[in-house]
Amino acid sequence: MIRSALMNVMTAAALKAGRGLKRDFGEVANLQVSVKGPGDFVSAADRRAEKILFEELAKARPGYGFVMEESGRVEGTDQSHTWIIDPLDGTTNFLHGIPVFAISVALEREGQLVAGLVYNPADDDMFVAERGQGAWLNNRRLRVAQRRELADSLIATGVPHLGKAKEHPRFKQELAAVMTRVGNVRRFGAASLDLAYTAAGRFDAYWERSLQPWDIAAGIVLVREAGGFVSDLSGGQDMLSNGEILAGGETIQRALGDLLRKA
Ligand code: IPD
Ligand code: CA
Ligand code: CA
Repeated sequence: MIRSALMNVMTAAALKAGRGLKRDFGEVANLQVSVKGPGDFVSAADRRAEKILFEELAKARPGYGFVMEESGRVEGTDQSHTWIIDPLDGTTNFLHGIPVFAISVALEREGQLVAGLVYNPADDDMFVAERGQGAWLNNRRLRVAQRRELADSLIATGVPHLGKAKEHPRFKQELAAVMTRVGNVRRFGAASLDLAYTAAGRFDAYWERSLQPWDIAAGIVLVREAGGFVSDLSGGQDMLSNGEILAGGETIQRALGDLLRKA
């Protein structure tokens, strides 16, 4: 596991925010049966987690800027460093009592992603990576899957929710093209974990569109440091600006990209 000062700062902040999320996740089950449901409670949990991450990281690294899902951009005095944070990725899962959600924290230095952390407090899986230091799950070094045949592969994706219904036709076309060629497809519901699982070789590859920088920034570092390939759907490197992601081991990442472009 990476024990750099930077990683200690990131893991300490995530563990602290994660303790709150885990407690709140336990409460969600009790609210599930109410007519209104746990919606407001979950938004509050989300904001609380973000506040802890913001305070802890600002204290440890004064001056760094922030891009956060809930509070937006906070400019720092240090123009070269920016934290990119999703305090609760997989909100729908959290809301429904499904323990597949994570805190996602990445650090950008001079426009380059240099560190990423994805932490699921429900099962205590802590995925970390720092540029040049490999990717790790707790104390285990991660390596992307090395499968070579699409037909043997397990591919992750994200289904656009109802609010993004205009994206459904294209998604259906892409899914049709993919499902007829790969072993099977998974929709887990947390982009950060989809990337972390890809880094761990659990998924052979993952694609999705319309994501935000905080969904994928940390996971990109994980996949790259696990020896994987990451691009947008045209094969470029504009994932953070166009919200497209295609990640996996070399052969399957390329083959999946070809399938999607022809869909
Ligand atoms: C969402 C999750 C989901 C993805 C959505 C994201 P949120 O983030 O990562 O897997 O399909 O597009 O918005 O809202 O749970 O933080
Ligand atoms: Ca998210
Ligand atoms: Ca979120």
